[in-house]
Amino acid sequence: MCGIVGHIGNGDARDIVIKGLEKLEYRGYDSAGIAVLNHAKNKFEIYKREGRISNLKEIVDFDYETSFAIGHTRWATHGKPCYTNSHPHMSNSTRFIVVHNGVIENYKELIEKYLGGYKFNSETDTEVIVNLIDYFSKSLSVEEAIRKTLISVEGSYALLIIDTENKDKIYIAKNKTPLLLGQGKDGVTIASDTMALVGYCESYIILEDKTFGIVKKDKISLLDYLGMPIYYKTKPLSMKTEDISKNNYPHFMLKEIDEQPGIIRRIIQNYFNIENEIIINDKIVEDIINSEKIYFVACGTSMHAAHMGKYFFENFLKKHCEVFIASELAYQDALIVNNPYFIFISQSGETADCISVMKKCIERKHKMLAITNQESSSMNNLANDNLNIYAGKEISVASTKAYIAQVVVLAILASACAKKKTSIKQDLDRFALAVEEIVNSKHNIEELAVKFEGAKSAFYIGRGLDYYASLEAALKLKEISYIHTEGYASGELKHGTIALIEEGTPVIAIITQNHTNMITRSNLTETISRGASPIIISNHNNSQTTDDIIIPDVVSYLRSPLAVVVTQLIAYYVALMNGNDVDKPKNLAKSVTVE
Ligand code: M6R
Repeated sequence: MCGIVGHIGNGDARDIVIKGLEKLEYRGYDSAGIAVLNHAKNKFEIYKREGRISNLKEIVDFDYETSFAIGHTRWATHGKPCYTNSHPHMSNSTRFIVVHNGVIENYKELIEKYLGGYKFNSETDTEVIVNLIDYFSKSLSVEEAIRKTLISVEGSYALLIIDTENKDKIYIAKNKTPLLLGQGKDGVTIASDTMALVGYCESYIILEDKTFGIVKKDKISLLDYLGMPIYYKTKPLSMKTEDISKNNYPHFMLKEIDEQPGIIRRIIQNYFNIENEIIINDKIVEDIINSEKIYFVACGTSMHAAHMGKYFFENFLKKHCEVFIASELAYQDALIVNNPYFIFISQSGETADCISVMKKCIERKHKMLAITNQESSSMNNLANDNLNIYAGKEISVASTKAYIAQVVVLAILASACAKKKTSIKQDLDRFALAVEEIVNSKHNIEELAVKFEGAKSAFYIGRGLDYYASLEAALKLKEISYIHTEGYASGELKHGTIALIEEGTPVIAIITQNHTNMITRSNLTETISRGASPIIISNHNNSQTTDDIIIPDVVSYLRSPLAVVVTQLIAYYVALMNGNDVDKPKNLAKSVTVE
């Protein structure tokens, strides 16, 4: 959460930083700010604004020359979204300027111990960092003062620090929050995500936790907190501008929904050889087979994909599985079997709730696999093994293509572990075609949006796999349409929740499994009798003529994930009808790096 960008070099740093922040806006958009060195005046100008980068741009002076700037786009943690809490923050002395992504846990103790004489203007923990540097700099060199600050603070941070008395360098620090250094012909760009480096950098360095650095336009020094040099590797930056642009789509979400057939095919290419055999490291497969039980750990949409994974493993492999919400397991002394196998699923690979559980697993020496969309991510680093979902950059806050990709990779993994005789490749080829049919006939789904007009609440219902699909469908609808939606096991409604059904409440039944078809229909009828306005998504052999959307035929275990594609489009069109910002829904951020 929060995105930071800095540039020092020869290019127009203000432009590079603002464009970079625009690309990182998915990380948070409560407020934005930038500190720019005005070469003519030889001083830093600070601009901040509540809300989006577009607001910030209205007040930035673009007329003077600059080659040094740092900026921030905020997802509020400490303190409400407002001008005063926006970054950059400045020390009382006005000597130091800081942008920060992360959370400082011991900021109150630090104030008590060192900063009694300091005045705090904002409610942020960041102001403590910048004043602490200032405090230590009274008796130490700036470099030592920053390192002493880093040793004193507890928590997560990616930091860019300016010493206004030394305008040729940016100090940086990183712990538990991503930070990358990009190198290009125009200098060095520092950012939370590679996206902000695209167009300016040819290579980049992924910083390790507890790294302190001094960045000049032509020199990078990375040190540990004791001042010892850290040796680093650079990686070529392969991401291109077209990988992160909308390409004529009105929203990233729609583009990402449409990308799904191609992604399924890309996964197939990466996980099958020409004999249609699965290519997954034998060690992963053997570790899973030899484990007593599989624990899936994830959040949000990834957790809903985990439910599908549980079904695949239990059915293909006949192994016990459990799905945990990461934030629950992190603070629970759950009873874990002696020989467990943990599968962490995350699009970003940076989700703090998952990372917190992974650290516990490391202490207990549990084997862990991370399934992510981000090759160089914190979760991949922590796990024993990784699997890539090959979804490409997902920018819309509402996750769509990552979900389908996670489900497909989980099906392949489960099949590899079950050593299935018949390849599931054909099932997946057919699945890709079916997803394509759905996205190509999206106008049918668009017409359903009116059924949600004026709705205050809605329900997705289903049983078994269709229930798991309902959970994801409901999350998608609520997060971008702002209609309160629940995904419910259809048989459970009558035990209380049916009391919420009113005249016109949309109840969408997902019916794709033969053995639950009639009973789910019967549960739906119970809601219709209480005024619900029904919508039915079914598959061919479970359909009735009046059903609203009939999905193409695929193998039974992939029907419910296929129905999710329909519900992604429903969410999209309802959000659009409600006039919402589809890609950046309120209160949310794409990468949730705080617990
Ligand atoms: O990056 P992750 O997959 O770990 O993120 C988990 C959730 O934060 C994420 O899926 C969230 O629920 C999405 N906004 C859902 O669309």
